Amino acid sequence: MQQSKPISRRSFLGALSATSAAAMMRPLTGVAQPGPVLTRLVPPTGEALPLVGLGTWITFNVGRDTEARDSCAEVMQAFFEAGGRLIDSSPMYGSSQEVVGYGLQKLGHPSRLFSADKVWTSSGSAGPSQIEASRRHWRVPRFDLLQVHNLLAWEAHLRTLLAMKAAGEVRYVGITTSEGRRHREFERVMRQHPLDFIQVTYNILDREVEDRILPLAAERGTGVIVNRPFQQGALLERLERYPLPAWAAEIDARSWAQFILKFIVSHPAVTCAIPATTRVDHVRENMAATGRLPDAGMRARMTAYVEGL
Ligand SMILES: NC(=O)c1ccc[n+]([C@@H]2O[C@H](COP(=O)([O-])OP(=O)(O)OC[C@H]3O[C@@H](n4cnc5c(N)ncnc54)[C@H](OP(=O)(O)O)[C@@H]3O)[C@@H](O)[C@H]2O)c1
Repeated sequence: MQQSKPISRRSFLGALSATSAAAMMRPLTGVAQPGPVLTRLVPPTGEALPLVGLGTWITFNVGRDTEARDSCAEVMQAFFEAGGRLIDSSPMYGSSQEVVGYGLQKLGHPSRLFSADKVWTSSGSAGPSQIEASRRHWRVPRFDLLQVHNLLAWEAHLRTLLAMKAAGEVRYVGITTSEGRRHREFERVMRQHPLDFIQVTYNILDREVEDRILPLAAERGTGVIVNRPFQQGALLERLERYPLPAWAAEIDARSWAQFILKFIVSHPAVTCAIPATTRVDHVRENMAATGRLPDAGMRARMTAYVEGL
């Protein structure tokens, strides 16, 4: 069993300041014109991924209705046009995988796609056929990333995914959880298995992963995808009752959505956040979270402000 020591708070905060300082030194862009999309390197390979991806859980579960599918395809088009790459789905999300596949076909299979899907079945032996069905729904030759959804039957599925990776049938392997579920077990799997990515919930009010999981991911060189950045919309609904503080301009945040996304992706262990949306204007706004990122001091100010509302 491979063991690793928790990263010390001092070295972790040091890494935070260094990363944020590097981000602060990136060239600034005008407030009205968003700058180039910000990227972070996937730790195991050094591949650059935009800091903002696209979730599909409820938003893309629109069934067979052509108008609704076209509307999702428009969101995907705006996402790719803005420089997006990572789209996340799961067999748990109803028709979402098929809707992603419909959109990819309609958009001529954008080469920049980074396809992130999951395996989600309590039967270990049913994993391979579920993955193959998902691949057909997406209409892709193979997935970039496959994750064991919510640790369900993770021992068997992780064996399958690691064998697929060894055979060149998937590029990256990971596990997911959300809303703090099974974090102790999640941490054990992280320590004992060669994961490329983990996916967890993290936002300005749900910060439990800051204590152990994010430092462990940084220490082990595991990429981190952040789900539920807006608490499924509830966080933004709450914040939008208040004006954005004037000092949000110091980090080039022009809306609450950008304020929250910048908080999340400025954590040095985070590779990308995957907000979901049904709206083209919202996907553009999320992808336009460019320019300066907050440093450690600004992150503390942002947290205190939001907690005080
Ligand atoms: N265990 C797991 O593996 C797990 C668990 C949960 C989620 N996930 C993944 O994480 C993704 C994101 O999480 P989530 O779906 O819970 O929701 P979320 O991204 O936290 O919030 C989505 C909501 O935010 C709203 N929104 C998005 N951008 C906005 C903007 N710029 N301004 C105002 N409102 C905005 C959307 O409404 P509009 O449609 O009006 O924009 C939508 O209702 C999921 O779709 C899924 O891919 C994985």
